[in-house]
Amino acid sequence: MPPSTRTPGSILRSQGPLLDVRNLSVTFPGHLAVRDISFHIDHGETLALVGESGCGKSATSFALMRLLPRGTAVAGEVNFNGIDLFRTDARALRNIRGKRIGLILQEPMTSLNPVRTIGDQIAEGLVRHEKLTWTQARTRTAELLDLVRIPDAARRYDDYPHNMSGGMRQRVMIAMAVSCNPQLVIADEPTTALDVTLQSEVLELLDSLRRQLQMALLLITHDLGVVAQWADRVAVMYAGRIVEQAAAHDLFERPVHPYSQGLMRATLRLDDGTHYSNARLSEIPGSVASAAGEQGCAFAPRCSQATEACYHAPPALVPFRDRLVACRVAVEPSEEPFRAVVGR
Ligand SMILES: Nc1ncnc2c1ncn2[C@@H]1O[C@H](COP(=O)(O)OP(=O)(O)OP(=O)(O)O)[C@@H](O)[C@H]1O
Ligand code: SF4
Ligand SMILES: [Mg+2]
Repeated sequence: MPPSTRTPGSILRSQGPLLDVRNLSVTFPGHLAVRDISFHIDHGETLALVGESGCGKSATSFALMRLLPRGTAVAGEVNFNGIDLFRTDARALRNIRGKRIGLILQEPMTSLNPVRTIGDQIAEGLVRHEKLTWTQARTRTAELLDLVRIPDAARRYDDYPHNMSGGMRQRVMIAMAVSCNPQLVIADEPTTALDVTLQSEVLELLDSLRRQLQMALLLITHDLGVVAQWADRVAVMYAGRIVEQAAAHDLFERPVHPYSQGLMRATLRLDDGTHYSNARLSEIPGSVASAAGEQGCAFAPRCSQATEACYHAPPALVPFRDRLVACRVAVEPSEEPFRAVVGR
């Protein structure tokens, strides 16, 4: 469904954002992976976090859930429906994870326990969070397997993960993520491990559950086709920073940041103007600069519009027309490109 026909979460904005992330930074030992990013997600909307490999998407999502390895420094504030996730105690956090925020990861085999039936793994969350008896949880699990369109759902309860195909395992992960009616689902590259047909089936399922269960979705992807089709808004990440934030429709109509423009150029636009290919973001020439140790704009070595000033200080993310953009040239278009430096 094209973004323009979707229900924008902003209709529900009077409630305030569901998730409000402010000045989030994540530093692994010796590596600053996420640099001072801020974004919000409204009730019921889909925000896509997009950017090429290593730009900090997963570090961001794990930070929100406080699931980063020990020794990782995290700074900033994350407010989820009035709860300060970085300051709430471990018990409250366990209750939020899995119950109010569901998580779906790229490869279900790493998240599912290979020696327990998929039914028991789903039911366990219902027993823990919803205080159902095992008998009640078993019945509800069969309903959930049906909800995620697993054929012959009641008989699949006793299957082990290895008895299922990759697409079916991902449906099990989705059933687990939505089992307690969460307000937010974080899906980190939920379909990357699947073939193209299964990818769109799983995304269509996720989107239909989002509408049916009135959840918000943080959809992490490096696939612009996915963004165009399923997101309400998009935050484009580059080297640990958000460089452009806009309504998905506006971003696709007119990308402003040179990196976003490069992504669009690397994406084949089909004749009907509403669908985009599965172009990979890495098709922009050059490689991602490390977020650590950068002096100026991290995109400068790959940017055809760079000026000398771009090499001295990172641009701030500022409001520009209908969006937020972190590019001093885009927001002050009078400066001459410094072509001698970039050599293009
Ligand atoms: N546990 C870790 N320890 C040290 N560095 C890490 C760790 N996890 C990730 N990184 C580094 O942090 C940066 C951001 O990683 P992250 O996994 O968030 O990228 P990503 O955008 O999710 O990429 P991908 O699209 O490949 O999943 C990368 O440079 C990565 O190498
Ligand atoms: S700030 Fe300069 S280098 Fe960075 S994206 Fe804008 S023009 Fe390019
Ligand atoms: Mg990742």
